[in-house]
Amino acid sequence: MGLMSENHPHSVLGRHDYLPAAGHDLLLPAFDLISRVVGTPALHDRLIEQAELEPGHRVIEIGCGTGNLVIKAIRAQPRADVIGSDPDPRALARAERKAKGSAGLRFEHGYAQNLPHPDGGFDRVLSALMLHHLPTDIKAAALTEALRVLRPGGRLEILDIGGDTTRANTFLSRQMLRNGHVKANLALPRLLESAGFDHTLVSSEPHPRMGHIVYYQAVRPA
Ligand SMILES: C[S@@+](CC[C@H](N)C(=O)[O-])C[C@H]1O[C@@H](n2cnc3c(N)ncnc32)[C@H](O)[C@@H]1O
Repeated sequence: MGLMSENHPHSVLGRHDYLPAAGHDLLLPAFDLISRVVGTPALHDRLIEQAELEPGHRVIEIGCGTGNLVIKAIRAQPRADVIGSDPDPRALARAERKAKGSAGLRFEHGYAQNLPHPDGGFDRVLSALMLHHLPTDIKAAALTEALRVLRPGGRLEILDIGGDTTRANTFLSRQMLRNGHVKANLALPRLLESAGFDHTLVSSEPHPRMGHIVYYQAVRPA
């Protein structure tokens, strides 16, 4: 499935059919530094806590980028079975280097809207700062796919930019709104509902560098 749509003109996607972690391949080496500067590690910690990972849990992160969240996940619950999935081979190569030696964690090439996994095999799907990279039609497809791969009662745990993000928030939020990323993310609750999830807004708050951050917990009904 391609990502050409009203929200992502070709000039944004360049030669890829996905929007890379830092917006451009050339910026990927700086992604982890940028993440630290904007305060992502603390946001990741909260998502891991929200996910309540248990021994034996099968977990997949859609859009894992350079692997920062899944590395935290396997450290938090070393007896889980964790997959980091992303369409960007460059990001996956970085993630694999960083995660070397972490038993229980592996990476795979994949698109959130088309996961190479059978129905109902996962206890948790994690999504951190990824959904705003998708145009609305692909985002809807990705949420439907997350529901498909979760077992009944399994949970999609989301951290993203959204909520009351406005141009007045920060420089970064102005850039994101200009590309249509965040604007399209405001529809998340409706899309979660349409995909068939029971969802809760866990938290919605202004963030000093990213504009406005939301956490959702979405359960595949039993
Ligand atoms: C801002 S990065 C976030 C990376 C990681 N989740 C984190 O929190 O550090 C967004 C990631 O989404 C990935 N992405 C873009 N389109 C995607 C798609 N259709 N399916 C899955 N991942 C996608 C990008 O390659 C990128 O690595």
